[in-house]
Amino acid sequence: MWLRFLHPHLGIIEVTLVVENGLVRERRLGLTRIHDVDSHLDLTGIGIALPGAIDMHTHLRGLNLSRKEDERSGTLAAAHGGITAVVDMPNTSPEVRTVTVLREKLRALAEKSVVDYGVFVGLPSSAEELRRMLSIEGVVGLKIYPTDFRQLRNEHLEVLRETSSLLMIHAEHPDLIRERCSAGTRHVCRPIEAEVAVLSYVKQWIGRGVRVHVTHVTNSATLMLAKSIGASTDTCPHYLYLSSEDESELGCLAKVNPPLRPKNVVEDLLVNVKHLDALSTDHAPHAPQEKCLDFEECPSGIASADIALQLTLNLVNRGILLLDDVVRLWNEGPSRALGVRGWGCIGEGCVASYTIVNLKRKFVVDPSTFYSKCKVSPYAGLRVEGDVVATIVRGRIVYLEGEFYELKGSRALSVKRDEQSNP
Ligand code: DOR
Ligand code: ZN
Repeated sequence: MWLRFLHPHLGIIEVTLVVENGLVRERRLGLTRIHDVDSHLDLTGIGIALPGAIDMHTHLRGLNLSRKEDERSGTLAAAHGGITAVVDMPNTSPEVRTVTVLREKLRALAEKSVVDYGVFVGLPSSAEELRRMLSIEGVVGLKIYPTDFRQLRNEHLEVLRETSSLLMIHAEHPDLIRERCSAGTRHVCRPIEAEVAVLSYVKQWIGRGVRVHVTHVTNSATLMLAKSIGASTDTCPHYLYLSSEDESELGCLAKVNPPLRPKNVVEDLLVNVKHLDALSTDHAPHAPQEKCLDFEECPSGIASADIALQLTLNLVNRGILLLDDVVRLWNEGPSRALGVRGWGCIGEGCVASYTIVNLKRKFVVDPSTFYSKCKVSPYAGLRVEGDVVATIVRGRIVYLEGEFYELKGSRALSVKRDEQSNP
């Protein structure tokens, strides 16, 4: 295939790649014809190819929650949004806390996912069950929620350390969270202090040799503290675009955990975006009728897989990020944290997964065009400059200019545990 590729050192270059079994077999600089290859797919005219985006935090739901989303609709949304690999969360129904449910989840992913996939497992009661789950192909680590903090025991930590597995945490201290708050005030009920308070535990876990990733940080204080104790971090586009004022105005559409913060906190996080390791979607779809319930009853979560990368490209056009930052936040950071190697580079042996973007194309967010089952969004009507034109996974054209093509053949992410690293 012929690509215009954003090279980390050389800038934008034209390159010819021969892809075999999903890997780059041969690379030549410039656009050349190769004698034993009969078709040359020319993707140079449509945009710039970036190393494929990896979304390390997504809720594909499925199993008994398939009315909200399933592994097919969620990964079609991801591919529409330029995401070449997703990592699914365990708070499904049933929850992925046993080998039996995990195997069911992995079967559904193998059958339905259109991009490559990994899974974070939930906390089981026994450390042995955790060890068994972590040894299964496609499992990238353990995810814990506020309700799990008290259940995490030394034996679990020991298994994480011994197997060099990543611990992803939802940092909100359960003792500092109040439920049932009105729209616009959730940032008071679930304060920044609740995020910060968790980091003292995290510090001890890291001290015991466990690798920790703090997901969806909402503010600079949590970010800086997490960095200082050696955790890796991500945030999501909604913490860079939306504030507690949007929660007042949009109600449930903007209800999310941790909650949206006041505008000054959002502005401050935008200034510190360079200190983050990654962006993730925290794509959290709910059925549209659930998002229409009264504010205090409705479920929290924003579905953004269809547009998260485009929102990031828009930040490039607003002068807040460089295109290199997009690669760092959506490819290099997640790869490093998860221990994924060679994802979307162009040398021999690299995994041929690329996200092709058109930085200048403009569109208005219209949730009815989402491939996610959740067709409501707090971003509806937002003008965005920067679009995804193609999603290539291991050499397969999954998505190109509004159409889906080769949907079969997705694989479980292979992670090198000893190479997962904190910054
Ligand atoms: O708002 C959220 N929704 N935060 C979470 O931590 C979970 C997620 C969900 O699964 O809906
Ligand atoms: Zn989540």
